Amino acid sequence: MAHPPIWLATAIDVVVRAGAIQMAARGQDLEIDKKGPIDLVTRVDLEVERMCRDTIAARFPTHAVLAEEFDDDPAMADASHVWVFDPVDGTVNYAHGLPMFCSCLALEVEGRPVVSAVYDPSRRELFTAERGGGAWLNGAPIKVSDAAVLVDAMLCTGFPYDVHQTVDEVVGLFGAFVSRARAVRRLGSAAIDLCYVAAGRLDGFWEQRLNPWDLSAASLVVEEAGGRISRFDGSRFDTRCGEIVASNPQIHGQLLQVIADHAVSS
Ligand code: IPD
Ligand code: CA
Ligand code: CA
Repeated sequence: MAHPPIWLATAIDVVVRAGAIQMAARGQDLEIDKKGPIDLVTRVDLEVERMCRDTIAARFPTHAVLAEEFDDDPAMADASHVWVFDPVDGTVNYAHGLPMFCSCLALEVEGRPVVSAVYDPSRRELFTAERGGGAWLNGAPIKVSDAAVLVDAMLCTGFPYDVHQTVDEVVGLFGAFVSRARAVRRLGSAAIDLCYVAAGRLDGFWEQRLNPWDLSAASLVVEEAGGRISRFDGSRFDTRCGEIVASNPQIHGQLLQVIADHAVSS
C-alpha cells in the first residue's frame, strides 16, 4: 500500500539528523546520567529526542509522539497516528564509545507501524521499510537469510535492564540457544539486531522486556524483508507487547521450541 511519501521521508530525515548529532558529540562530555543502576541517559538522547518531537510537531500537528526520554504526549490517548522513536538505541554502547548504536523512528497508524527508518551512523547504514512495499538497506532491497536449522544459524539476543535480578532466567535461555546454534551474539542495540535479521546477517533474535521504541521501527523492517515475528509463546506480535522472536520463516518454529523447552525445564 502506498503511503504519503512525506511519512517515510520524515522518518529518514529525523534518523539521519539524529546520527549527525550522535557522531558530532563523540569524544565530548556526554553528561551521562543513570535512570537505573545500569540504564543510562546522555545529553545526546535528550537533544535528539527534542529534535524529533519538534520536527513531528511542525510537520504533523495532529500526530502524537511516543519516545523514550520525555513524558508521553497528552495527545497520545486519542491519536490514530503515533510516531514511535528511540533517540539512541544502544545508549550503553554509545556512552562507552562502542560504535554500535542507532536511532529509530516508525509511524504507527492505528497501532501498526506503516513506515520506518533505522540509522546506524557509524557504518552509514540506513534501514527503511514501508508496509506492503519492502525493506531496504541504503536503498537496496534486503531479505532474511535462508538458514534452515539452528545448528547453521547465527543468533542474537539482548539483556534487559533488570538482568541483575533476572540473570538465571536470561542467561539460562541464552545457554539453551548456545548449545543448539552455530553462534549467539549480544550486540547491545535491539533495533540493529533486528535489522541484521532483516538483512540476513543474523538468522534470529529474541529478547524480553523491551519497549515500543526498541521494537516498532525495526520489527517492520524484519516483516518487510520476509521475516517472521511473534511473541515468545508464538502468538501475534504487536509493538506494545514487550517481547519479540524474529527470524527467517524456516527456523522460527525451532526458536519457539527452544524457548518452550527451556520454560518447562526451568
Ligand atoms: C536497549 C538496547 C539493548 C537491549 C535493551 C534496550 P537503549 O535500548 O536495545 O540492546 O538489550 O533491552 O533497552 O536503552 O539503549 O535505548
Ligand atoms: Ca532502545
Ligand atoms: Ca534509547
